[in-house]
Amino acid sequence: MAYLIGIDVGTSGTKTVLFDEAGNALASATIEYPLHMPNPGWTEQDPEDWWQATVKSIQAVLKQSGVPAGEVKGLGLSGQMHGSVFLDEKHQVVRPAILWNDSRTAAECEEITRVIGERRLIELASNPALTGFTAPKAVWLKNKEPENFKRTRTLCLPKDYVRFRLTGEMAMEVSDGAGTLLFDVKNRTWSREILEKLGIPVEWMPKLYESTDVCGTITPEVANLTGLKAGTLVVGGGADNACGATGTGVVVEGRVLSSIGTSGVILAPSKTPQTDPEGRAHTFCHSVPNLWYLMGVVLSAGMSLRWYRDVIADSERAQAEKTGTDPYDVLTRLAQESPVGSEGLIFLPYLTGERTPLKDPYARGGFIGLTIRHQRRHLVRAVLEGITFAMRDSLEIVRSLGVRIDEVRATGGGAKSAFWRQLQADIFGCEIATLGSDQGPAFGAAIMAGVGTGVYASIPEACDAILSVVERTEPDPARVQEYNDYYQVYHSLYPGIREACHHLSKKVAS
Ligand code: XUL
Repeated sequence: MAYLIGIDVGTSGTKTVLFDEAGNALASATIEYPLHMPNPGWTEQDPEDWWQATVKSIQAVLKQSGVPAGEVKGLGLSGQMHGSVFLDEKHQVVRPAILWNDSRTAAECEEITRVIGERRLIELASNPALTGFTAPKAVWLKNKEPENFKRTRTLCLPKDYVRFRLTGEMAMEVSDGAGTLLFDVKNRTWSREILEKLGIPVEWMPKLYESTDVCGTITPEVANLTGLKAGTLVVGGGADNACGATGTGVVVEGRVLSSIGTSGVILAPSKTPQTDPEGRAHTFCHSVPNLWYLMGVVLSAGMSLRWYRDVIADSERAQAEKTGTDPYDVLTRLAQESPVGSEGLIFLPYLTGERTPLKDPYARGGFIGLTIRHQRRHLVRAVLEGITFAMRDSLEIVRSLGVRIDEVRATGGGAKSAFWRQLQADIFGCEIATLGSDQGPAFGAAIMAGVGTGVYASIPEACDAILSVVERTEPDPARVQEYNDYYQVYHSLYPGIREACHHLSKKVAS
C-alpha cells in the first residue's frame, strides 16, 4: 500500500493529513498560528510560524498513523493564495508576509492599472488589480518600505516558502503563480511585460512547474526533524482553491465547486481560459495541465456567521455550552424557525470589503429591511441567506460567461449542515452534491503527490477512482421562486449605499 501526505498552509493553521492510496485519511493534525493585524485593513503572518506548524503536524501524523516513513511515496503542498513572502539573498524573511485578505494596497492597485492599462492588464494577466493579489503588495513594498525592497531577492508564496524549508528548492507551480498578477495565465508562465513595467526583477520569481511535477525531495536535516525519509518526493501542489477543487473532483468542465469556509468560493473549470471582461471573477490555472478555472470569492462568508456567533449570539452560545452542542448547530436550528426571506430582512456580508462582484475594499455590511417584528431567528437566517446570495452573485457571473454548470459540489462549513445545503440548492436553483470525505485542500495536494509519484495515472482518473458523491440535495421549486425575488432585491442594494460605505470606511481609517 502506498501512502501520501497533503499539507495545507492555511490562514488559521497548517493542516497535514496522511492518506492511503484509496483516499482514506489515516491521520490528521492541525496546528494553529496567529494572524497579526498591526493596522486597520492589514493582515500579516510570520512565515516561521507556518514552518513550525508544518514540522509539528508532520511529526503528529506519522506518529498517529504508525505508517513507516519509507512507505510515504510523496508529499503535496497546498496554501493560502497571494500572500507575499519577501526573502533576502540568504533566503531570510525580510518582513512579515502580507496576506490575501489584506486591503492596504488600494493606491497600488490604481498605480498598476494606470501603468499597465486596464485592458492590457486583463489581456496579460487575465485579471484586474485587486488588493488581495501579490503584485500590489510588491509595489507597496517598493513605495512604502524601499529598504526592504532593496534587500529582497526572492518573492514567493506561503506554501512555496514551506517547500523551500522542506527541500531547499525555490519553486512555484502555475495554479498559485496565476494569483500573483505577475503571471501570463493563458500561457502558464511569468509575464515579463508586467514584471518590467512594475519594476519587479524577473530574477525574484521562482522556477515554475505544473501541480503534479516533482520539484524537490526532503532534505536529510528535515528528515531528522520530522521523521520523514530523506529523499521523499515533493510535488508542485497547488493554490488552496485548486487543491480544494481537486479534492472534490472538480477537475472537469461542468462540475462546479461551492466552498464555504472563512471565505466563500465558487469555482468552475474550463478547457480554455475564460476571462470576465469586467474583472469581477478571477481566471486562474487549474492543477490539471491545459485546464483553467473561473472563480468568484466572497471575502467574509463563514467569517460573517462567525462574527454573528461571537458578537451577537451570546444567548445561543450560552445555550450551546449548557447542552454541550456546537453553537453553529444552535444557530442553524434557530434560523429554521424563520420563514424564507427572514420576513423581508436582508444581510449584506461585506464585513471585510468584497471581491466578487464588487471589487471594493471599502464595501461594508449591513442588515436592510429591519422592522420591530424581527427576532433573533430572523437575524441569523438573514445572515445565512445573505452569504448564500453573495455566492450566487459569483455563480451568475459563471453562467453569464457561458461556462458549463452541470453539478455543484459543496464543501466546507456550508456543506456540513443539511439546512445550509438546502439553502444553497434553493438559492442557486440547482442540485447540490456532497462527497463522503471532506479533508479540504490537503486531500487535493495528496492526490497531486500521488500523480507525481506514479501512484495514480492522472488527476481526473484518481478522482473518479477514489471519490464518490454520497448525497444530493434537490431544490424546492416554490422556494427557488421566492428566493429568486429576494436575490434580485439583494443584488440591487449595494449600488445605493456604495457612497455611504466609502465615506464611513475612510472616516474610520483616517
Ligand atoms: C482566493 C483567495 C482566498 C485564499 C484563502 O483568491 O484569496 O480564497 O486563497 O486561503
